[in-house]
Amino acid sequence: MNIENMKFIQNFKKIANDAWLKGWHERNGGNITYRLTQEEVSGVKGIINDDSEYTPIGVTVKNLANEYFLVTGSGKFIRNMTVCLEENAGLIKVDEKGENYKIVWGLINGARPTSEVTSHLMSHSIKKEKTKGTYRVIMHSHTTNAIALTFVLPLDGKVFTRELWEMATECPVVFPGGIGIVPWMVPGGAPIAEATGKLMKKHDVVIWAHHGMFCAGETLDLTFGLMDTVEKSAEILVKVLSMGGKKQTITSQNFRDLAKDFNVNISEEYLI
Ligand code: 13P
Ligand code: ZN
Repeated sequence: MNIENMKFIQNFKKIANDAWLKGWHERNGGNITYRLTQEEVSGVKGIINDDSEYTPIGVTVKNLANEYFLVTGSGKFIRNMTVCLEENAGLIKVDEKGENYKIVWGLINGARPTSEVTSHLMSHSIKKEKTKGTYRVIMHSHTTNAIALTFVLPLDGKVFTRELWEMATECPVVFPGGIGIVPWMVPGGAPIAEATGKLMKKHDVVIWAHHGMFCAGETLDLTFGLMDTVEKSAEILVKVLSMGGKKQTITSQNFRDLAKDFNVNISEEYLI
């Protein structure tokens, strides 16, 4: 089968294009990775090239040993994923120790996986463990309004969670685990990957101050939807702050009532 006809490839391209249209991916900003299912790995076996060299991941991700990921390329534009996938993205395989990866398809003409591959794989590892393997997607976007808020709100996950929950009634239902914040750090290495992974133990949404957002999810659709929901809430908050701030809002008791009726667990730490 032609890889381009496979459902996960088509979904990946659709989400990349949708995210570009949202204005989250200027130039080469942002990156997306997807962990293949066993059936998808079997489906691509015929086109895999096993000859390439291994590259160190920078962290150890033991539970990702022998897993395959579809990853966007470093310096590649998210808007071009629909134009030519094998130039702009590729499949990588993690070795049996969880310490190295190699390119097995795509990323042609000397392209490399995203410079954030370490943060992505660290987050995949944490999420695979925490969700018994159901989470398969990590998405990093340069979401304008969430970034803007990191210049104004205290860099405290509790504050971001509560403020963004208040901006749209269904937010606590979409991200009940709240948001983690990484203070400004140099992107693209093991330290920011460790800091992000630590927060991914508790949250599906991690904001990198003055940089962008990381979202984790089961499917490409759900991860895109999560990013969109948080960013829309951030946009409302930017507008509210620009209009002089809140005059009324959703109360802690309102959130408790919502949680009960929607059958979600939301931590009291956000409801003080
Ligand atoms: P890449 O082009 O290497 O994916 O980097 C883009 C980015 O957003 C870095 O944080
Ligand atoms: Zn970035």
